[in-house]
Amino acid sequence: MLIQLLTIHPAIVAPVFRESILGRANEAGIIDLRVVNIRDHALSKHQQTDDYPYGGGAGLLMKPEPVFAAVRWAAGRGPAGARPPRIILMDPQGRRFDQRLAEELAQEDHLILVCGRYEGFDERIRALATDEISIGDYVLMGGELAALVVVEAVARLIPGVLGDLESSVAESHTSGLLEGPQYTRPVEFEGMRVPEILLSGNHGAIERWRREQALRRTLERRPDLLETADLTPAERALVAE
Ligand code: ADE
Repeated sequence: MLIQLLTIHPAIVAPVFRESILGRANEAGIIDLRVVNIRDHALSKHQQTDDYPYGGGAGLLMKPEPVFAAVRWAAGRGPAGARPPRIILMDPQGRRFDQRLAEELAQEDHLILVCGRYEGFDERIRALATDEISIGDYVLMGGELAALVVVEAVARLIPGVLGDLESSVAESHTSGLLEGPQYTRPVEFEGMRVPEILLSGNHGAIERWRREQALRRTLERRPDLLETADLTPAERALVAE
């Protein structure tokens, strides 16, 4: 999968693409992460990417021409034979990002993430997008960190990106439930002990315990998730009690 992140601040994003799990996967060619500087596609002499809003008002807006040019350039660089790119505008007005959307995007061949700065986008930029995504109901100073959230959540679902030591199967939200408690060594720390069942070696019993803990934790912290979680009839009856 090719993911191109379009920004006027490549330096915010570039180090994240070089480090740790993303850096390793990028280096190994399992995923292709690229930063595109929108300013390189600005036509004016001063490579201006922002301007004052018509009608007045505070702040500056992203100009349409450089963003259109950068997106068109990026769209022409998809992997051979790839389906057309999803062109995603990072915007607090967009569809709320969640695990389901991450899973949907992980099926794509080519993602273009467009980051705004300033007070927002010229409205005509929306005509370019196939999607608009918000990572939550708060306003950031730009779309870069939001786009990186999307990249991380999507990349870890691509086969081979997580190594054997990492895992994407039992994490919170993948099953629609929060993950239950987990422990590593030592067995006892400041009077707090690892539950005996986890030391028992009884894998069937451990799996049942984990499932029950996940249900319990979701019920306590995020009962809203239970409405759409994939539960057996018996589990549904249990949480309804
Ligand atoms: N840009 C600014 N705030 C944002 C948010 N909450 N989600 C996505 N992009 C943004």
